[in-house]
Amino acid sequence: MSELAGRRVVLGVSGGIAAYKAVEVCRRLVDAGAHVAPVMTESATNFVGATTFSALASEPARTSLFADSATPIPHTQLAQTADLVLVAPCTAKVLSAYASGYSHDLLTNVLIATRAPVLLCPAMHTEMWEHPAVVDNVALLRSRGVFFVDPEVGHLAGGDVGAGRLADPETIVAAAEALVRSLDRDPVSDFEGKTILVTAGGTREPIDPVRFLGNRSSGKQGHAIAEEAAARGAKVRLVTSSDLTAPADVEVTRVETAAEMRAAVMARSADADVVIMAAAVADFTPASVSEDKIKKSDGVPSIDLVPTVDILAALGDNKAPQQVLVGFAAETTDLLANAAEKLKAKNADLLVANNVAEDGVGFEHDTNEVVILSTDGREIHVPLTDKRSVARAVLDAAKGCQDGGTDKPANVLGAERRNT
Ligand code: CTP
Repeated sequence: MSELAGRRVVLGVSGGIAAYKAVEVCRRLVDAGAHVAPVMTESATNFVGATTFSALASEPARTSLFADSATPIPHTQLAQTADLVLVAPCTAKVLSAYASGYSHDLLTNVLIATRAPVLLCPAMHTEMWEHPAVVDNVALLRSRGVFFVDPEVGHLAGGDVGAGRLADPETIVAAAEALVRSLDRDPVSDFEGKTILVTAGGTREPIDPVRFLGNRSSGKQGHAIAEEAAARGAKVRLVTSSDLTAPADVEVTRVETAAEMRAAVMARSADADVVIMAAAVADFTPASVSEDKIKKSDGVPSIDLVPTVDILAALGDNKAPQQVLVGFAAETTDLLANAAEKLKAKNADLLVANNVAEDGVGFEHDTNEVVILSTDGREIHVPLTDKRSVARAVLDAAKGCQDGGTDKPANVLGAERRNT
């Protein structure tokens, strides 16, 4: 049975073209057994009629703070009875109003009045999503404990392509479900007093001032681990090549190349209790970087590559006894065999393996599916879920190692199997 069954979900719909996808979100929430109360902004009704939501949801869609005689003060009633407030799509205007406390309509009043968890699913044009005001509002709301399903890269209104497209309804409902499940757990501060170093993103190796060798890693999984670790009381150092935001209490070091990542990690790892190498570090870098842009007219260039230092292996060579070292393996074939080989070769304590060739897994996605291997032959299978839930399972496993490795990790998601 779905975790959403019997939960009261306020579905906020704000005014963007993606409002049509909220209809599918509404239907999926109802199918999962949730009691859905739609709240639409006035602009949203320009895109989809309130009647559509009223027909699909568990109660009529509301659009006004005042015009509902059956419920004289709808915003407090909705806010107080909600188990989850989910806003899809969430416009830049709603983000701004919520961040600043400007409660001017029913949806923003519900957001400010509720004590329930809030999950925002932004959708807007790329230029708006990347505007410093929006970036700051998202960071502020994240630091206040608001949850996000980040927009995806894809086709936008008007034929443009870029970051800002509303996540798929399936992803949004999966995230809502995972959030409700995770919040059912007792709050844990099991990394209080511990220092956790996390790396995130794909490195970029410059060829000339314009071009680089890179990979598809977005940094979302590493950032989710940093967020989860901070929420569990750890002092978190995040070394990232991604421009994603991080909670205010996370120490962030931005890097670009494998060499910069190595220097930043080595300077911050000695006293770390847990080091999690979620970054996709380049294995090769150009032997030299052209000072000027390589011109097409000079013909097809031949670029000599030299190997980079394997940061995880270097950490494994000098591991302090108390330190738990976690590596990742992005594979497209022989997932478990390759991951087991890396676990051993790099002297890691845990290896998080994901098959990036599968749908919805690994690079650029909001979801992931992994197997966590440990040195004692244990395998924890984490089925397809949002990256924050994967982060939780990885930290649960790291905690298990720290506590001596003999106890079963307190994972909530994974099914454990021990190899014999
Ligand atoms: N890694 C690292 N430094 C590198 C390359 C990889 O620290 N120069 C780390 C990654 O952060 C990850 C782990 O090693 O935690 C495995 O990375 P992956 O790219 O999957 O494996 P590689 O060792 O690079 O091997 P291959 O490319 O052959 O799969």
